[in-house]
Amino acid sequence: MRAVRFHEHGRPDELRVDDVDRPEPAAHEVLVEVQSAGVNPVDTYIREGATEPFTLPMIPGIDVAGTFTAAGESVTGLEVGDRVYGTGIGKNHHGGYAEYVAVPDDLLVALPPGVDVVAAGGAGVVSVTAWRALVDHANLQVTDVCLIHGGSGGVGHAAVQIVAASGARIIATASPPHHDDLYALGADVVLDYGRADLAEEVREAGDGGVDVVLDHRLHEYLQFDAHVANVGCRVVGIGEDETGVGFERSSETRRKDLQLTIMTMFNTPDFRIPLRKVASLMGEGELEIRIAETYDLDEAADAQQRVLEDSFLGKLVITP
Ligand SMILES: NC(=O)c1ccc[n+]([C@@H]2O[C@H](COP(=O)([O-])OP(=O)(O)OC[C@H]3O[C@@H](n4cnc5c(N)ncnc54)[C@H](OP(=O)(O)O)[C@@H]3O)[C@@H](O)[C@H]2O)c1
Repeated sequence: MRAVRFHEHGRPDELRVDDVDRPEPAAHEVLVEVQSAGVNPVDTYIREGATEPFTLPMIPGIDVAGTFTAAGESVTGLEVGDRVYGTGIGKNHHGGYAEYVAVPDDLLVALPPGVDVVAAGGAGVVSVTAWRALVDHANLQVTDVCLIHGGSGGVGHAAVQIVAASGARIIATASPPHHDDLYALGADVVLDYGRADLAEEVREAGDGGVDVVLDHRLHEYLQFDAHVANVGCRVVGIGEDETGVGFERSSETRRKDLQLTIMTMFNTPDFRIPLRKVASLMGEGELEIRIAETYDLDEAADAQQRVLEDSFLGKLVITP
């Protein structure tokens, strides 16, 4: 089969298409014929060697969607021919940028009828992250005002729709070309993150402040978050705080009883739980993963370059 691999850590041009053996599923693995594999910022960190070391050469890709083709003897509950999607793969073993991938059966679930398999390939990391941040960590309530920084991103546009489905109020930030799309996805107020009076505008849109914040750039926004927070606000960080300062204004933080959780999707105790919730939202038409562009396997380097450098609404996926 054809698979993208990198033989050394480094720049995008380390990615190349190799002919490799089709994997044999182990006892608890499902062999998936890949129809779509999301391209995520974390794929680039792994390629660069910025995370823990891997055995090389390696096939990248944390997300996958496709057709269940074969399985090891311990797999139950799925039938050959089922359409499946999953995430959390490609961290400790080979990923989704290939014609086939063997996936542990606790990292994927069946797709409901009617859900587009190409969109599902881009859904995993971003929707599971948004679900875990908002529902599991922030304990989102219908009465909350929720601030989503970067609502146009992969995580952001999934988060906007998950909050919209809950009925809570959404203030999202994005660059101006994406504002109309975010209103269409359910945001109540969309603001340009570049404006000088952003904090004032957020507080005004939230009738005084916000109850939940999804923050993908902690180093830029942590103090801002404290400033726009209502008492009892839950801030969930999915980005880096490269400065390592935490909340600077400790008196303001204390006065507001702020809670900060910094999370990684990879700590999800059972991926099938959020994957099923997200699948059901997609099946009911409440969550639409927007695909900004699809790429062939031999365009993986372009896709990984664009995911870090360009502004687009939604997701980039590889369709082998
Ligand atoms: N902790 C975890 O488990 C986890 C999981 C998934 C992702 N992440 C991290 O979360 C981040 C976002 O991931 P993603 O897949 O959503 O990336 P993405 O699709 O590339 O989205 C990036 C978003 O950042 C916005 N943005 C750019 N400059 C900004 C600024 N100065 N202020 C506010 N927003 C700005 C972009 O808006 P415009 O395009 O409108 O300019 C876009 O909405 C990445 O750093 C990723 O590594 C962490």
